Amino acid sequence: MDYKHTSVMLDEAIDILMTDERGIYVDGTVGGGGHARAMASRLDGGLLIGIDRDQEAIDAAADRLSGFNVRLVRSNFSRFDEILDELSIDRIDGAIFDLGVSSHQIDEASRGFSYMHDAPLDMRMDIRQQLSAFDVVNHYSEDQLVKIFSEYGEEKFSKRIARAIVERRRSTEIKTTGDLVELIKGSVPALKGAGHPAKRVFQAIRIEVNNELGVLDGVLRSAVNRLKVGGRLAVITFHSLEDRIVKTTFKELATDCICPKDLPVCVCGHRAQIKLLGRARTPSSQEIKNNPRAKSAKLRAAEKIQSGVERSI
Ligand SMILES: C[S@@+](CC[C@H](N)C(=O)[O-])C[C@H]1O[C@@H](n2cnc3c(N)ncnc32)[C@H](O)[C@@H]1O
Repeated sequence: MDYKHTSVMLDEAIDILMTDERGIYVDGTVGGGGHARAMASRLDGGLLIGIDRDQEAIDAAADRLSGFNVRLVRSNFSRFDEILDELSIDRIDGAIFDLGVSSHQIDEASRGFSYMHDAPLDMRMDIRQQLSAFDVVNHYSEDQLVKIFSEYGEEKFSKRIARAIVERRRSTEIKTTGDLVELIKGSVPALKGAGHPAKRVFQAIRIEVNNELGVLDGVLRSAVNRLKVGGRLAVITFHSLEDRIVKTTFKELATDCICPKDLPVCVCGHRAQIKLLGRARTPSSQEIKNNPRAKSAKLRAAEKIQSGVERSI
């Protein structure tokens, strides 16, 4: 299988993440193994665990990482704790999440992620899962469609597009990405400089089908829990919805007290577990020139600290 994906912010992410060549690191979104290979190459006596929910990614990563001390697990990263338990691993030195879809998933027309190719409406990262783009487009109510197009796609014409879908469904099923693109084009004005008219709706459906936002906060907390003191977490996001979740969760985990501001004394007992390693980093203009898909990337990183409770003992 030809698996094409250019890893985003590769050196920046690995430089900030890796502090111990003998450590145990997790790549929660191993994809074709780009970041993972760079990590594995820096290990000497350490272990890399690569997780992906997509079998094609696991197969590509297995090829790319052969010869390294790596364990690959096909799973949703929402099972982070169970995966480490199954491998009898308690603490880790670092974890990376490079979120969203790979270029391979988008470019492989048959996966139905792309508005540029005509294919059955699918968009499942894990083909074992039930819900597909076909189900969303053909079975969600008009209100549900408006909600996901607005929230996950930040699409201005959500109502018009949802209405057009529901009207079309009365006479025939919407079976392909091409059918959906035509419907969207016919229901929104062609605005200059606004990008492809189907871009935002496709993003919204993909996020819904794969529950991309629903699992994010939980896995960040699990990863932080599993880090050794001094261990690090690096997360690369590609749109503001994901980045907002990472920023908010990091901020909370990096804060001692989260009581309402008007309380005179702390009653929450919340203690910071991480410190932020600077602000969000973005790709260089050269990287964006070489790989336009890197354009919207943001890298956030944090380091596990001794919590205040432990520190005071
Ligand atoms: C941007 S790609 C990662 C590319 C990889 N870092 C590289 O350099 O080759 C994102 C990968 O994460 C996987 N993925 C996304 N959400 C996931 C989840 N909740 N659980 C497991 N894998 C997930 C996708 O299947 C995809 O292969």
